[in-house]
Amino acid sequence: MKVLITGCAGFIGFHLSKKLLDLNFIIHGIDNLNHYYDINLKKNRLSILKKYKKFYFKKIDISNFKILESNFKLNKYDIVVNLAAQAGVRFSIDNPRSYLNSNIIGFFNILELSKIYKIKHLLFASTSSVYGDNKSFPLKEEFNTDKPLNFYAASKKSNEVMAYSYSNIHKIKITGLRFFTVYGEFGRPDMALFKFTKSIKNAKSLKLFNKGNHIRDFTYIDDVTESIVKLIKKPSNNKIPFQIFNIGSNNPKKLKEFLRIIEQILKKKSKQILLPLQKGDIHKTHADNNKLYKKINFLPKTTLNNGIKNFINWYRKYYD
Ligand SMILES: NC(=O)c1ccc[n+]([C@@H]2O[C@H](COP(=O)([O-])OP(=O)(O)OC[C@H]3O[C@@H](n4cnc5c(N)ncnc54)[C@H](O)[C@@H]3O)[C@@H](O)[C@H]2O)c1
Repeated sequence: MKVLITGCAGFIGFHLSKKLLDLNFIIHGIDNLNHYYDINLKKNRLSILKKYKKFYFKKIDISNFKILESNFKLNKYDIVVNLAAQAGVRFSIDNPRSYLNSNIIGFFNILELSKIYKIKHLLFASTSSVYGDNKSFPLKEEFNTDKPLNFYAASKKSNEVMAYSYSNIHKIKITGLRFFTVYGEFGRPDMALFKFTKSIKNAKSLKLFNKGNHIRDFTYIDDVTESIVKLIKKPSNNKIPFQIFNIGSNNPKKLKEFLRIIEQILKKKSKQILLPLQKGDIHKTHADNNKLYKKINFLPKTTLNNGIKNFINWYRKYYD
């Protein structure tokens, strides 16, 4: 089984590639290695993957149709997992074009090539941000997602509807993955766990938006990749073979409680700068994961305490 993972040098792409390689899959990874955050972290993730004989890497930007097409033509993939994207809510306020290029044009290219090269199952990353300011919790897949609060969410919502139409017309089996605040080892430097840990360890002040009162359904990376591995084998068999799942832990926590756990593990207090809720930020996410459980008989299970401990152990080894 030949699998293409786009965004393989990214946080989730790296972990998913590694897990599938450990399960003996042949993995082709592509990534444009952009500079959104520390490029060395991406290169170091890649150097771990490159130790596997069945891993093949190409530096490709998914918004470049010609180059992407020659790659698809050459390799004849069975499965594609599209994780390449411009991520981040705050960055989308000042840099919307980068979301248009990677998330909308890039994803369109993936859809076209999945059609042309008859991909058996396409899975793609969406986000909990598509739920916008929904007030009813836990968030269920069938809830309305027509009011994205920022352009990042709008780009992912677009992916969902673009994918649905391709699935309808061309009968491509497609699965959307709405990730809820994923965290863990080799995590993203622009996300709370990384920033908080770094600031506390360096005795620097950290910015706490909304005074730490917003709520996130933090989901540990191994639970996310385990869910994807199980979903790969379970495309939809409906007439329109499109399906979408929340990938979240159904265990929401206030950001300030999340910060307290980090402080306890580091045995050090943070210095906080309290700020209002950022423009475009969602107040609360909380995944209903019943649909996921019914499909794969698995649920995210890692406790926040264990997940954060794993991250901090990794961080210490990596940076100290
Ligand atoms: N981490 C989370 O909490 C989270 C939550 C919701 C959704 N997501 C989505 O999951 C996916 C993976 O997220 P992540 O946290 O691993 O982010 P990441 O930024 O670590 O990984 C994305 C990777 O894609 C690459 N990339 C970006 N644009 C590209 C392009 N045009 N062509 C080729 N490669 C490109 C980047 O270089 C990066 O290595 C993204 O689609 C993101 O939007 C993540």
